[in-house]
Formats: sequence, C-alpha cells, structure tokens
Amino acid sequence: MANGGARDRWVTRFGLVMAMAGNAVGLGNFLRFPGKAAAAGGAFMVPYLLALVLLGIPLMWIEWSIGRHGGRYGHGSTPGMFHRLWKHPISKYLGIFGVVLPAIIGIYYIYIESWSLGYAWHTLMGDYWGKTSREEMKAFADGYRGIGAGTFAFSPDAYLFFLITFGINILVFARGISKGIEILCKYAMPTLAGLGVVLAIRVLTLPPLDGRTVSDGLAQLYVVDWSKLGDAGVWISATGQVFFSLSLGFGMIHTYASYLKKEDDIVASGLTAASTNEFVEVILGGTIAIPAAVIFFGVAEMRTIAQSTFDIGFQTMPVIFQQLPLGRVFGAMWFVLLFLAGLTSSVAMFTPLLQFLQDELDLKRRTGVIIIGLGSFLLMQPVVLFLHHGILDELDFWAGDFGLVLFAAIELVVFAWIFGMKKGWEEIHFGADFRVPGIFYYVMLIVTPLYTLGLLAWWLWYSFPGKLWMTDVNPADVPYLWLGRGMIVVLLVLVAFGVRYAWRTHPKYFEEKVQE
Ligand code: PHE
Repeated sequence: MANGGARDRWVTRFGLVMAMAGNAVGLGNFLRFPGKAAAAGGAFMVPYLLALVLLGIPLMWIEWSIGRHGGRYGHGSTPGMFHRLWKHPISKYLGIFGVVLPAIIGIYYIYIESWSLGYAWHTLMGDYWGKTSREEMKAFADGYRGIGAGTFAFSPDAYLFFLITFGINILVFARGISKGIEILCKYAMPTLAGLGVVLAIRVLTLPPLDGRTVSDGLAQLYVVDWSKLGDAGVWISATGQVFFSLSLGFGMIHTYASYLKKEDDIVASGLTAASTNEFVEVILGGTIAIPAAVIFFGVAEMRTIAQSTFDIGFQTMPVIFQQLPLGRVFGAMWFVLLFLAGLTSSVAMFTPLLQFLQDELDLKRRTGVIIIGLGSFLLMQPVVLFLHHGILDELDFWAGDFGLVLFAAIELVVFAWIFGMKKGWEEIHFGADFRVPGIFYYVMLIVTPLYTLGLLAWWLWYSFPGKLWMTDVNPADVPYLWLGRGMIVVLLVLVAFGVRYAWRTHPKYFEEKVQE
C-alpha cells in the first residue's frame, strides 16, 4: 500500500492451493467445457491438451510470478505489476485490463451462479417434477428467469436467489483473503470434489437405454475424429476453454499470487492448482453431463443441446434426474456442485479491483468494498432485467472470449520479451521446490507468446469485425448490446483515470524499492 501497512497473506499452503483451484474450478468446468467439447464433435481434446501444455501451464507459472513479484512491491493488481516489469509509461495502462476483465465476468457470472442455487432448491422441492420433456423444462427455465411476459426479464423467484447469492459473495469478499476466501475454499473445494465424484459414479453406473451406453457418451469426448482437426473453429474454441477454465488472461491469478510470500514456491503449487482444475474439468466435468445426455437423448440431440452453454445444465439434466431413483437428491447435488464451483470463482472476481483501489488509490478496504458492492450491484441490474436481449452473452464474449486472449498476449509480451525470459525464469524458480524442465524456457520464450498472438490475430481478423458491427443480431437487441459495451468502456476509462491519478499524485511510491 502506498500508505504502508501489511498485506493480507495466504495462511497455509493447502488453503492457497484450494483457493487457486477454487478460483479456476467454476461453471466453466461443468457447463462450458462439456458444451464446447460436445459441440466440436470428436476433435476437441487434441487441441485442448496441446493448449494446456503449451499455453495453460506455462502461463499459469508466469501469472503466479508476475503476481508474487508485484506483491513484493506492494502491488496487488496488474497496472502496478506491469509497471514493475517494464518501466515504460504505457505499461501501467496495459494493466487496466487485468482489473476490468474479471469485474466484467463477475457482473454476469454471479447471476448464472444464482440460477444454480435456485435450481438446487426447486429440485429438492420437486417443483418441476412432471415436466419431463426438454421443451417443458425450457418453459420452466424461461418462467424462472421471468422471460416472456414483459419488457423486463423479472421474476421474484430468480431475483430472490440472485440477492442471496450476491449477499453471500459480498460477505465472503468483504472478509478478505485469509479470513474469507481461503476459509471458504478450504471447505467448499473438498465438498465439491466429493459431490462430483458421487455424480460421476452415478452416471458411470447408468444402465443402457435403447442400446445407448455410458461408453457411447464417453466416446464423444475421447474418440478423436481426425478429420475435424482441420477446423480452425475447434482450435480456437479449445484454446479459449483452456484459458477460461484456468482463469488465465484475466488478471485474477496475479492478484491471488500477490498474497504469496517472497520465498513461497510457485512451480509446485501452480502446477497442483492447474492439475486440480484439469482433473475436475476433464474427469468429473467430462463424465457427468455429456454421457448422461447421450444415454437419455442420443448423440445427435446431445450435440444440438450442447450448442447453447447452459442448456445441458439447466434443461437437460433436470429431465434426466426426474427419471432416476432418488432423482431429487442427485439433482440437488448437481446444482449445489455448480453453485459451489461458481461461488469459489466469483468471490475472486472483484479482488483485483479492490486491491487496485487500496494499493494505488489509497482507499480504505471498507470504502473499497462499499464502492464495489454498490457499483457491481447496479451494473448487474441490466444483466438480469434485459437477459432476453443478450447483454449477458455480449459481456461474456468481450471479456470471456476475446478479452482474455488480448490480455494474455499483452502479458506474455511484457513478461517473456520485455522483462525478459532470463529474469523471468529466475523469478519463477525463486523458492521453488523443484525446477521446471528446461524445455519450458523456450516454450515460454517462443511458443506461448507466438501461439497466443496467433490466436489474437485470428480473432481480430475473422471474428472481430462481424461481432463488432453486430451483423447477426436481432435489431431489437442492438441498443441493449451497446449498453453492455458501454459498461465495459466506462469501467476501462474509470480505471485508466485511476491509474493516471495514482501515478501523478504519488510518483515517488512507484519508484520505491521492495516492500517486505
Ligand atoms: N475459471 C472459471 C471457470 O471455469 C471462470 C473464471 C474466469 C474465474 C475468470 C475467474 C476469472 O468457471
């Protein structure tokens, strides 16, 4: 902090790894992964695993070291961290994405998370029992969210669960790193893993239906259709999923890593957190939704369902649970699992912003929490009320599909090329329990940055223009999508002004030496 004071720290290594894994394990693992993998149809895992090794794991180590390095100087968010890596006036402005992107995600993610809580309740109560087709469950989902009746997508039901979810998030967030997030994750993560294992076993032991078996479902993920590998879309989607799932390219891992001590190990802990995420995603996330959907609906229909990220979780699974013995219990377990996965991620999403307000703008923690609480609540209203106009998807595209690739490319250039891989390699290994294989030096120096820049170029060239000019959009939705974009721009501008103000008002602080 510019005004001095001790930083919050992770208390135990177990707590740290659970918090980092909790940050990464989220709705992405159980909804987005199966959806994307199934939609790609048989070629997803090849680019996925390649991206994991060449981009995901190297970037994980890099983000941990940028964060720990910055934290040593008292910076808990990327503007200050980048400034410490690269003494150029622009570097701090490049860092604003790492404050704004996670906050944007938080604004819509918490609403989706609240559906899980609402559905856990309605499942346990058997409120939709009897709606045994996907069409009926779709109608139930629309009703739950208040879509259809009027101008606003408002239903007291969904709004109540949204308020509860928002409240829980703010409560944990306000208690801080060691007393809030670490404690939550220490309990929530093992619980989540337990629920995941039970559900995976339930699915694996499902009897065949009309000749369709669990293996037919698993084959959708694991049997490679090599002919599909020429499809660039599959590569983009798989690579994006690796970033999203590991929470990379957002600025969030950096902030969590800034609470490390100088000599805390990065290599082993970073790898453990990433592996935990992958186990949960590929083994648990992959075993539950897709095979269940294949058994009950068949491959073709499952593919159609998978085109829309949330339909598998909120429309297909409820139909399936109704046909299982003890379905209400298994169903509630599924939604509690989603809720915990979401919660341990969403409590992280405003921490970069809070740290920015505290470290660089000298606000008191309490003031920061109040500003963020009120501000985010306000920004969530259009997402909830105009859900049917696609604001949520618009924010998800700019922050969760495009923004993370942009920011990952920026940080890779700053770390590997400007700060320099030689210093970077030393930084990564400081305090390490074991060394990263030497080949990764070159991977981080060449492959990871170029791969990511290539991805960015692809986005800018193919997807960006159509998206930017809203070529495929229903005209009635256009003003709402602009509202969503406006929110992003306003946040970026505000944080940019914050950076300018901070660096002008106490320039000395940004020259100071390490704070222990
Ligand atoms: N990794 C989280 C998930 O899989 C999502 C997330 C994105 C979390 C960005 C934090 C930051 O759902």
